[in-house]
Formats: sequence, structure tokens, C-alpha cells
Amino acid sequence: MSIQDSGQVSDFSSDEKAAIRTIWKNVYEKYEDAGVAILSRLFVSHPGVKEFFPKFRELRTTESMRKSPALRWHGERIINAINDAVEELDVPAMQRLRLRQLSQRHATEFNVEPQFFKEDLNRRGPTRRCTAVHAGTSTTALC
Ligand code: HEM
Repeated sequence: MSIQDSGQVSDFSSDEKAAIRTIWKNVYEKYEDAGVAILSRLFVSHPGVKEFFPKFRELRTTESMRKSPALRWHGERIINAINDAVEELDVPAMQRLRLRQLSQRHATEFNVEPQFFKEDLNRRGPTRRCTAVHAGTSTTALC
């Protein structure tokens, strides 16, 4: 799957950046639980997503997901990637580069279909940039 750029969006305003940092601080303080919650919610609401994660296919209940060290570890990786993006809000060139690389990996190595990012893209302001970039189809548009 190739990455297609679909234009630029404006940078975040100072107010938006402040809001992102405030909201993110609350999430990051509980990064372990937040990572598990992100993944278990994704798997429960979109069971098809598990096809991309062979190592999580056997986890059928939220309880088994909560207890899985592998899932917890993956959740931490996601949280850290978002944290990097938040920390780089004032260095957009660095942020773009990092997110572009992550996007590339999802699109070309993990073979994730862009459709799984669209919903978050439309709904969630603070993570909009990260999820959109990550989708591998609108890299430049949102990073
Ligand atoms: C904000 C959204 C997301 C973030 C920040 C994120 C972040 C990450 C990170 C940091 C990795 C590890 C990359 C590496 O090893 O270099 C990863 C791996 C992966 N991600 Fe994502 N991800 C996101 C959304 C998704 C979604 C929606 C899917 C699927 C529908 C997905 C599927 C995968 C897969 C299959 C892997 C490889 C897992 C493995 O190591 O076996 N990601 N992601």
C-alpha cells in the first residue's frame, strides 16, 4: 500500500496545543491502563482489527486483554508514540518526520487498512493528527 499525500492542514493554534497538553497529561499519568483501554476498546468495537494482530487473536474477553503482558506492552508503545507527538508540538518538522515513519510502517509492513483510522479521524480532536498521519493515506494532510 502506498502513502498518498492529500494536502496540508494548518498548524495547531497556541490554545489548541495547550488543550492537547492538558488533556494528554491526564492520559499519560495512567499510561499503562490507558494503553490497555485503547487496545481493548478497539478490539471489542472493531473485532476485524484483530486480523492485523495474530498475537492477540486468542484474547477474546476484555479480562484476558487486561491480563495480557503482550497487549499491555503494545499499549505502552502506542502511548509512547502519541507522547512523542505531543512533546514535539513545537517542533513540527520533527513531529512530521516521526509520524511519517510510523505511518510508513503501518502502511507497508503491518499492512493496516486506512479505513480503521477514519472513525477516530472524524471524531477525536486531540488525537486527530496522530491517527490521521498513522493511517498511511493522508500523511501530509495532518502532520
Ligand atoms: C493513534 C493510533 C496508533 C498509534 C500511535 C500506533 C502506534 C504503533 C506503534 C508505536 C507500533 C510499534 C511500531 C514499531 O514496531 O516500529 C505499532 C505497531 C502496530 N500497529 Fe499501530 N498504532 C496506532 C493505530 C493502529 C491501528 C488502528 C491499527 C490497526 C487497525 C494498528 C496496527 C498495528 C500493527 C498490526 C502493528 C504491529 C504489531 C506487532 O508488533 O506485531 N495500529 N503501532
